[in-house]
Amino acid sequence: MRFTSEEMAQTKRFDELYAKSQSDVMLSIERRVCGCDYGGTSWTTRSEADGLITLLGLNSRTHLLDLGAGSGWPALYMAKTSGCRVTLVDLPPNGLRIAEQRAAKDGISAMVTTRIADAASLSFPDNSFDAISHSDLLCCLMHKHSVLAACRRIVRPNGRMAFTVISVAPGLSAKQHRRAVENGPEFIESDDDYTSMLEQTGWKIVAYQDLSASYAASCSRQLEADEAHSDDLANLIGSNEYLERVAGWRAKLAAIDDGLIRRELFLVAP
Ligand SMILES: C[S@@+](CC[C@H](N)C(=O)[O-])C[C@H]1O[C@@H](n2cnc3c(N)ncnc32)[C@H](O)[C@@H]1O
Repeated sequence: MRFTSEEMAQTKRFDELYAKSQSDVMLSIERRVCGCDYGGTSWTTRSEADGLITLLGLNSRTHLLDLGAGSGWPALYMAKTSGCRVTLVDLPPNGLRIAEQRAAKDGISAMVTTRIADAASLSFPDNSFDAISHSDLLCCLMHKHSVLAACRRIVRPNGRMAFTVISVAPGLSAKQHRRAVENGPEFIESDDDYTSMLEQTGWKIVAYQDLSASYAASCSRQLEADEAHSDDLANLIGSNEYLERVAGWRAKLAAIDDGLIRRELFLVAP
């Protein structure tokens, strides 16, 4: 599938972010916000990652595919904790390179495969994986329907998929909708809601959680952590970008608190 210039620009931004994410200051902030230090860019916390291991039934006999895997959070953690094999897919090379280094450091390289690929057009054979996960991936790409359909094709008949996604709340006025879009991930908008898209692509919803309250709490910790590390962070990214970043967290937190954007978890089966 061809990428738009906006999608290519986003991949470049993620690539630069993954390189910076390994600095001491970014890792300290991440520990405070999500309880991990992989260089993550989703809002998945360590306790959510523990929950995913249980929801997906991961163990040494299962093979997990993590899409939009970034620098390995939370997939490498899930592999290390459960003993499952894992295949990581993403587009920015820096993220997957850092993930490979982390897997080597954690002594789990033999269980880990990485692949640069578009989650919307995956070339794995049918019925390849016992479990599929993605953390805030679908709000970072345009072809959400194609990703869900590709996942349905490559999951085994008794497999499961668990994913989190950030979306615009339903029933907003035009003004509220604009504010939601401004404060969410770049591709937060979708023509259909996730329940309909899952149904259209052959998935059944097994469990659902609204994670918006925990999203707000994480965003609030992000703001506090950034302010606590203001000098080091401004040195790393520049003073102007630091100020924009902190203002962005404030506006995002207000939009979540006002019920304009939400974060949800879906556990689905074929
Ligand atoms: C919010 S980040 C999550 C990264 C990581 N899983 C984490 O939790 O930190 C979303 C990831 O999706 C990736 N992504 C966006 N569009 C993609 C696509 N079409 N195919 C594969 N990955 C994509 C981005 O490069 C980014 O690394």
